[in-house]
Amino acid sequence: MMLLQTLLLFGTQALAYIRPAPHPDSHITRSGSELQLNGKRWTSSGANVYWLGLDENVIPPAGEPFYAPLNASYPTKGRITEVMTTLNVMGARTIRSQTMGVSVGNPLSLMPELGKVNEKAFESMDWTVYQAKKFGLRIFAPLTDNYDYYHGGKFQFLRWRGIDIKSTGTLDPKVQEFYNNRTIIDDFKNYIKILLMHRNPLTNLTYAEDPTIFAYETGNELGGPTFGDKNVSAAWTKEIIEYIKELAPTKLAVDGTYGINESHLNISSVDIFSDHLYPVNIEKLSKGVAAVGSVDRVYFAAEYGWTPPVNLTDFFTWIENQQNKTKPIVSGDHFWSLFMHNVPDCSTFVDHNDGLALQYGNPKNPAHYIAQISKIRQHLFKMQGQVVQAESPPAPCPGE
Ligand SMILES: *[C@@H]1O[C@H](CO)[C@@H](O)[C@H](O)[C@H]1NC(C)=O
Ligand SMILES: *[C@@H]1O[C@H](CO)[C@@H](O)[C@H](O)[C@H]1NC(C)=O
Ligand SMILES: *[C@@H]1O[C@H](CO)[C@@H](O)[C@H](O)[C@H]1NC(C)=O
Ligand SMILES: *[C@@H]1O[C@H](CO)[C@@H](O)[C@H](O)[C@H]1NC(C)=O
Ligand SMILES: *[C@@H]1O[C@H](CO)[C@@H](O)[C@H](O)[C@H]1NC(C)=O
Ligand SMILES: *[C@@H]1O[C@H](CO)[C@@H](O)[C@H](O)[C@H]1NC(C)=O
Ligand SMILES: *[C@@H]1O[C@H](CO)[C@@H](O)[C@H](O)[C@H]1NC(C)=O
Ligand SMILES: *[C@@H]1O[C@H](CO)[C@@H](O)[C@H](O)[C@H]1NC(C)=O
Repeated sequence: MMLLQTLLLFGTQALAYIRPAPHPDSHITRSGSELQLNGKRWTSSGANVYWLGLDENVIPPAGEPFYAPLNASYPTKGRITEVMTTLNVMGARTIRSQTMGVSVGNPLSLMPELGKVNEKAFESMDWTVYQAKKFGLRIFAPLTDNYDYYHGGKFQFLRWRGIDIKSTGTLDPKVQEFYNNRTIIDDFKNYIKILLMHRNPLTNLTYAEDPTIFAYETGNELGGPTFGDKNVSAAWTKEIIEYIKELAPTKLAVDGTYGINESHLNISSVDIFSDHLYPVNIEKLSKGVAAVGSVDRVYFAAEYGWTPPVNLTDFFTWIENQQNKTKPIVSGDHFWSLFMHNVPDCSTFVDHNDGLALQYGNPKNPAHYIAQISKIRQHLFKMQGQVVQAESPPAPCPGE
C-alpha cells in the first residue's frame, strides 16, 4: 500500500505539517480540539459516500435483492472496493456514509420491522469496513436521518409506534417524540446496540471495537418541526452519546444536529460538532469553528456542495491555514458526494439526481468539473501536509 501511494505521489513535496501514516489498528483519539492518531495530529478530510450499505441508484440484475418501491439494492462489492481505490488516489482519509449507520424500514434494511434483524444487510457494510481498512481510510456514520429517505430514519421509528406524520414542509410537533418519548428512545437505542454489537466476519471485530469506524453521529441533519431550527433535545443527545460510548468506549461521537446549537456546547461527551455548507460560506464556517473552539472540541464541515460555479478556493485555504495553528479546531471537510462505476461494468458511471455526484475520472466531465475535482484532490493531500500536481491520475476500477 505504501509503495503504491509513493508511486502515485511522485513529484510531491512534504510540507511542515506531515500527517502520520494510517496505522489502521490504532484508534483515532481526541485531545482538546485536535484529533490524533498514535499521539500525532490526524486530519479527517474526505468524501460522503452515502450508499455503501444500501443504494437507490442502480437497478440490479434479475434475481438480486431489490425493493422496487424505493429502488433499494445492495451495492456490489466491486463498487465498494472502487470507492476505496478512488479515495486513496484522491488523498482522502475519511468517509462519511449514511447507510453505514441508518438502515431501517424496508425489506433490505438491517431492521426491516421494529426489533427484527436482517443479517443479509450487514454484508455490504462488512465489506466496506474491511476494504476501508486496507486503504487506511476511516469511516463515520450517522445513526438516524432527519428525513424519510429509502434508508429510513426518525420517521420510521415514529411510525413503528403509531405516529404517522407527514415528513415534509412544516412538521407536526409530534415529530419531537423521537427525542422525547421513552419508548421510542429505547427502540432507537436497541437499534444502535444491534448495529454496534455486530461482529464482522471479515475482521472478527464488532463495529463497536473496530477502529476503522472512528465515530458515530447521533443523526444526519437533525432538527425539529421547522427545517434548520436545530431543535434537538440536549438531554437526548447526551443520552444517545453516552450509550454509544458505553457500548463502544473507543468511539468518538458527533452531535448530529444540523448546525451548531450553542445550548449543546456544554455536553461534555460530544467530541465533534459539525455543520453542512450549501454553499460554502466562510462567515458561517468561522463562526461555527469559533463556537466549537470555545469549548475545546473538534469541528467538521461534514458536507459541502462542490459543483461549479461554487468557488472552493477561499474555503479550502481557510481550513488549510487553520491546520498551522496550535488548536486547528476544524479537522476535516467532506464533499457531497462520490459516485463511481456500475461495477462490474467499468464503463458506465452511476449517477444520482441531486446534481452533486462527483464521478472521478469520468471522461464526460466538462473542463470546469475536472478543474474543481483537481482542486479537491489537491486540498485533500494538503490536509495531510502534501503538495500534489494539478493533473489527476486515474483511479483503478476493480471490475468485479
Ligand atoms: C501554513 O503552513 C503551510 C505549510 O507550512 C504554508 O504553506 C502556509 O503558507 C501556512 N499558512 C499560514 C497562514 O501560515
Ligand atoms: C426508480 O428508478 C426508476 C428508473 O430510474 C425511476 O423511473 C423511478 O422513479 C425510481 N423510483 C423511485 C421510487 O425513486
Ligand atoms: C410514547 O409513545 C407510545 C407509543 O405511541 C405511547 O403509548 C406513549 O403514551 C408515549 N409516551 C409519552 C410519554 O408520550
Ligand atoms: C422545540 O421542541 C420542543 C419539544 O422537544 C418544543 O417544546 C419546543 O416548543 C420547540 N421549540 C421550537 C422553537 O420549536
Ligand atoms: C474472534 O474474536 C472472538 C472474541 O475476541 C474470539 O473469541 C474468537 O476466537 C475470534 N475468532 C477468530 C476466528 O479469530
Ligand atoms: C437548541 O437546542 C435546544 C434544546 O437543547 C432547543 O430548545 C433549541 O430550540 C435549539 N435551537 C437553537 C437555535 O438553539
Ligand atoms: C447546559 O447548560 C444548560 C443551561 O444553559 C443547563 O440547563 C444544562 O443542564 C447544562 N447541561 C450540561 C450537560 O451541563
Ligand atoms: C475563486 O476565488 C479565488 C480567491 O478568491 C480567486 O482568485 C479565483 O479567481 C476564483 N476563481 C474563479 C474561477 O472564479
